[in-house]
Amino acid sequence: MRENLKIGLFGFGCVGGGLYEILNKSNLLDASIKKICIKDPSKDRSIDSSNFTTNKADLLEDDEINLIVELIDDADAAYEIVVEAFKKGKNVVSANKKLIANHFAELKELSEEYGVSFIYEAAVCGSIPILRNLEEYYNNDAISAVYGICNGTTNYILTRLVNENKSFDEVLKNAQELGFAESDPTLDIEGFDSQFKLQILIAHAFGVIVKPEDILRFGITKIQESDIKFAKEKGLRIRLLSRAEKVDDTITGLVAPHFVDEEDATYGVNNEFNAVTVKGLFADKQLFQGKGAGSYPTGSAVLSDVSAVRYNYKYEWRKIKENSLNFNNDFAVKAYISTTEFLALDGIEFLSVEESFIGLDNSYKVGLITREELLRIAESKANVSVVLFQDPIHDGTALNQKLINIQKN
Ligand SMILES: NC(=O)c1ccc[n+]([C@@H]2O[C@H](COP(=O)([O-])OP(=O)(O)OC[C@H]3O[C@@H](n4cnc5c(N)ncnc54)[C@H](OP(=O)(O)O)[C@@H]3O)[C@@H](O)[C@H]2O)c1
Repeated sequence: MRENLKIGLFGFGCVGGGLYEILNKSNLLDASIKKICIKDPSKDRSIDSSNFTTNKADLLEDDEINLIVELIDDADAAYEIVVEAFKKGKNVVSANKKLIANHFAELKELSEEYGVSFIYEAAVCGSIPILRNLEEYYNNDAISAVYGICNGTTNYILTRLVNENKSFDEVLKNAQELGFAESDPTLDIEGFDSQFKLQILIAHAFGVIVKPEDILRFGITKIQESDIKFAKEKGLRIRLLSRAEKVDDTITGLVAPHFVDEEDATYGVNNEFNAVTVKGLFADKQLFQGKGAGSYPTGSAVLSDVSAVRYNYKYEWRKIKENSLNFNNDFAVKAYISTTEFLALDGIEFLSVEESFIGLDNSYKVGLITREELLRIAESKANVSVVLFQDPIHDGTALNQKLINIQKN
């Protein structure tokens, strides 16, 4: 049955303002925004002040409002709003990856307990319809991997670093001036944003709920000019990938810069674009590509969720309910580790080394390394950059057994 929607909108910034315009300009839906809650009443707005309130109760206590669209930039305040909305029996659409990734299990259970829709397509890769596809189309256990560029800011910076002879700081400053990076870019460039999105992707692709902080994370801040040169010489490009893979009967996930070759679909995904590859056991690789941010692209994903709520759409979370997989943090991957302080390389333990180079300005090693050792590097302050290869991830226990057998023979 189609529901007549009265929307209570939280946030009138980039995405909230975009949704308002799309809804009003397009006439695509017979849904209307009844009230908008914002934070700062003194700001100039593009529409009449009678549309706004700073009191969240004006939306949450209004029985006529049956859908809350949460588009604010404060995950803690968003948590209060969303939980309150569920308790009032209101459906919720959100774009807030930090909120969702940090409270995934709780919000899923609460929305089920109160029998309301809680959907959030725009939270992962903006305009790309990846979550509903993972829920509905890939509604079985045939996915072997999901990986992609989930953050436009870092992809924009990496693209410019390759194309122009500029330092990381120069490119970042320019990205900020052009609106491709926030004034505080930490969440993007240190990989947190990609980590939140991967948490959500893993839940919808494999039915595994993991804490975001349990996903190994490297950002792009330590990438050196020499790393870009190494990539160029080998015909590779560097992409910050959110990557989850089925390894035996477990799921592994990590966020890190990766070398990608011409064969990989992400090789040609440049600037602020996002792309997600879904690898199926039988269908092989399929690529979803599009704008991962921005007022209209993100607003359009929110609009699609609003439209879905009209038909009472809810995620079934079937994979989570039927899941028998665990998240595995005992693994090893092929990595390139480089540093300007060549002595730092001696302290890094590899399981095996394929290539090593010692130079005056920069030294590196390429080889198989455990997640534990990578974590140690991630947590250290050393000036060491890590770029992974797309070679398969090895399960730690199986790999250890193999190494023991080799030593025995
Ligand atoms: N920007 C993108 O392209 C994009 C893409 C995907 C997902 N998202 C997600 O979408 C959400 C919104 O992002 P945005 O870029 O639109 O943010 P934004 O431009 O900074 O706007 C944030 C809005 O939230 C309002 N706000 C903040 N705290 C509030 C509170 N406690 N109560 C009511 N309103 C409050 C602000 O009010 P004032 O106007 O009064 O300051 C502002 O209107 C975030 O979760 C973000 O991660 C954004």
